[in-house]
Amino acid sequence: MAKLDNIIVVGLFWGDEGKAKIIDYLSKAVEIIIRFQGGANAGHSVEIDGKRYVLHQVPTGILRPEKQCIMGAGTVINLQSLIEELHTLESQGIEWRGRLSIDPRAHIVLPYHKQIEKIFESHHKIGTTIRGIGPAYSDKALRIGIRIGELSLGIPQIEKKLDQWIKNVGVLYSQYYNFEFQSPRIVAKDLMESMQFLGNIVIDKTMYLDEIARTKGGILAEGAQGTMLSINWGTYPYVTSSETIAGGSAESLCMDLRLFDRIVGVSKAFCTRVGMGAFPTEGDENTQRKLRGSGEKDTDEFGATTGRPRRCGWLDGVVLKNSSRINGIDELALTKLDVLSGINPIKLAVEYKSLRFNIPSLHSELENVEPIYENFEGFNGNITEIRNWEDIPKNAKLYIRRIQELSGSPVKFIGVGPDREDIITI
Ligand code: IMP
Ligand code: MG
Repeated sequence: MAKLDNIIVVGLFWGDEGKAKIIDYLSKAVEIIIRFQGGANAGHSVEIDGKRYVLHQVPTGILRPEKQCIMGAGTVINLQSLIEELHTLESQGIEWRGRLSIDPRAHIVLPYHKQIEKIFESHHKIGTTIRGIGPAYSDKALRIGIRIGELSLGIPQIEKKLDQWIKNVGVLYSQYYNFEFQSPRIVAKDLMESMQFLGNIVIDKTMYLDEIARTKGGILAEGAQGTMLSINWGTYPYVTSSETIAGGSAESLCMDLRLFDRIVGVSKAFCTRVGMGAFPTEGDENTQRKLRGSGEKDTDEFGATTGRPRRCGWLDGVVLKNSSRINGIDELALTKLDVLSGINPIKLAVEYKSLRFNIPSLHSELENVEPIYENFEGFNGNITEIRNWEDIPKNAKLYIRRIQELSGSPVKFIGVGPDREDIITI
């Protein structure tokens, strides 16, 4: 049998690019899907036959029976919300047992982390999802975090570690903010109960993945959030706390990254962002309303995790070019083209005045750039049924060709509607 491609899929903007739809499509031709960073801050949704599935921690591959899914070493796991997510999937007829595993090195998001983040957000506002993601990664960096594999040591050991956490980290919060932390005994017991429900799910598959990548192939590394939310290369400090770019897959893939055959970058046909931070092409009220939708449709631009209305604007070709470069993408996937139908003109930022194709490192500088736009004549009608490049309206083609030029990579996938089948492959 021919070797399958090993593929990395990443978002090129601020998350919510529609990665799930592309990953779902690509999953058909792989065997293993591994989420490589982030946690329950993500909201990945796919519509299948009018039914909507929303994933937060579980890799998108779970929606295709027979596929193996891994939550990698670079992710942070909230056991309680993972169980809720799995219950929902079960109620939708998805069988996950025996198909899902977690790397023993993945860190646990403790109930304490969410508590801390709430306080922290009230002083130092980033607009996070309040899922405890930042504090969990902070503890990892402080080397006081608890890895999920350590739960095998038993309740007394975990209780001891949680005690240490309260004495070293928690004390700062209890002193200044009068915080009361749930007793380590209860937290340790809850964690163990969760593990009992999950069963034999913590498995080190790093060597197996290496072997598969070299022989049969068929590994898909699933990114969450997007390039502009990268802790290193994004709009710091308005970013998430993990490395979201293709290279960040090394957080979870303990192998030679040259074993990957293709890197697919996902972009919407326009831009959105949730939370605070620079957004050079953010639209005026009228534009935002048109791009966002009213909220009546599941696919309107409201957060899948928090329900917050997303900030909307025109596609930023400067970011696109930069993100395409730093991820080293081979193929571009363009989603939600159908949303632009009826909007006229469609604007596309092609450079920033005096900066050209460079994303400044200083956030304040990016906040003040002035995008230069090209106007494209709009297109009309329902394009959801289209499956061939030839049938795409002429004006949409001109827009897509320009996007391709700015990215420097060929557009291989175009999303034209909410359903998993509403996709044009080129
Ligand atoms: P955190 O990841 O919860 O710490 O949030 C940091 C920033 O990333 C905030 O602006 C969030 O809105 C944003 N963010 C985190 N996860 C996602 C996502 O999956 N999609 C879009 N934005 C996200
Ligand atoms: Mg999302």
